[in-house]
Formats: sequence, structure tokens, C-alpha cells
Amino acid sequence: MPQATEIGLAPVLPAYSERADSYDHDTAPYESWRRRLVAALPLRRGDTVLDVGCGTGLCFPLLLDEIGAEGTVIGIDDAPAMLAEARAKADAHGWRNITLIEAPAEHAIIPCIADAALFSAVHDVLQSPAALDNVIGHLRPGAWVVGAGGKFPPAWEVPLTFVVRAVHAPYIRDFTGFDRPWRLLEEYLDDFHVTEVAFGTGYIAVGRARPVTG
Ligand SMILES: C[S@@+](CC[C@H](N)C(=O)[O-])C[C@H]1O[C@@H](n2cnc3c(N)ncnc32)[C@H](O)[C@@H]1O
Repeated sequence: MPQATEIGLAPVLPAYSERADSYDHDTAPYESWRRRLVAALPLRRGDTVLDVGCGTGLCFPLLLDEIGAEGTVIGIDDAPAMLAEARAKADAHGWRNITLIEAPAEHAIIPCIADAALFSAVHDVLQSPAALDNVIGHLRPGAWVVGAGGKFPPAWEVPLTFVVRAVHAPYIRDFTGFDRPWRLLEEYLDDFHVTEVAFGTGYIAVGRARPVTG
């Protein structure tokens, strides 16, 4: 598998290599938010769901609650330290229906056509057309997709913007597009809608994979 530098991506952020072991603790305040965005993804028992930028696997138990032992979670992440945490979590819980792919979403070899995809707090992935081409290209037509995370509040909320930037800086390579993080994703999906939350500092975007035409 090529290293990130070989394929022209920014290197893995220090937060993902040096602080992977404290990621769950550091982001614990967002647990109810995580429940809310997974709940926005209509899943059925037996579904295969792609957890893109799965990190340490904090969404795994929520997804498994919906898809059951007969379903499959495919976690994709390019930070080895984060995936090591995810692997340890899966082993500790005895989750056998989790497949982990250590690769950039842009180049991950996804071994199936999945029923759903989750993009939780992965701003950099959502700004990458190559990543969206690869991931959405491995979804069945009509598959549900949820993208959710932080965003800049309205322009007049200048003080809040500074707070948002500080909170997200450890986890984002580039704030480009942070005023409307779903801009690219919207182009891939039908029935697309966005709910802004927390005074416009977060969002949950939901839609369905568009059938490939031509
Ligand atoms: C803020 S964490 C979110 C983790 C998890 N989704 C959650 O909700 O806690 C962002 C994750 O995206 C991963 N990531 C960022 N860019 C990526 C890319 N191009 N391909 C795969 N993973 C990526 C990082 O390594 C990191 O684990």
C-alpha cells in the first residue's frame, strides 16, 4: 500500500499518530452527537456499512446495534495508530463482523458494494473528490449516506468561529470548505438534506447514492 506522501496527500496529523490513545477520552463529550448521526442513517439487519475515516471505531457499536451480527462494518482509515485502537476495540468486544482497511479513502480497495456509508467528523475526506468517487462508487444505488461534523457558524458569529477553529484544529488538515462541508457530497446524492445543529457549528447531511447513468 503506498504511503500518503507517495500519493500526494498531506501526512497523517500528529493528533492521529501521537494522540490516538487519548482520542476516545478527548472526544467523549461528543458521544450523544455520534448517536444522533448514526441514528440518521437508516440501516437494516444484515447491511454492510462503510465507516469512512473510522478512527478508533467509536461508531462501531452504534452501527452494530443496527445491522446485527449478520451485518458487516468496513472501517477505512489511513492513520495506523487510530486503526490500531479500532482493532483493539473490536478484539476486546469480540466483534467478528468488522473489516478494517488501512488506506486513504481515495485509494482503499473496498471489497464489496455496500448498503450505506458514514462519514463522521471527516472533513478532509469530504473535501476530496477522489475519496468520494471511490467510496460512493462502492455503494448500491439508493444506499443511504450520512456525512456529519463541525462547520463554521454564520459569518456574523465571529467569536464563535474562533472557538470552532480551535476545537477542530487538531483533527483537520485544511479548513477550506468548512463553511459548507457537504458541498461536494451533495453532488453525489439524491434526496439530499442538511440539518444544522449547535447554533450552526455542526451539521448532519443525509442522502441516497445516485444510480450510475450511462
Ligand atoms: C476526527 S477523526 C473521526 C474518527 C471517527 N469517524 C469518529 O467519529 O470519531 C478523523 C479520521 O479520519 C481519518 N482520515 C482523514 N483523512 C483520511 C483519508 N483521506 N482517508 C482515510 N482516513 C482519513 C483520520 O486518520 C482520522 O482517524
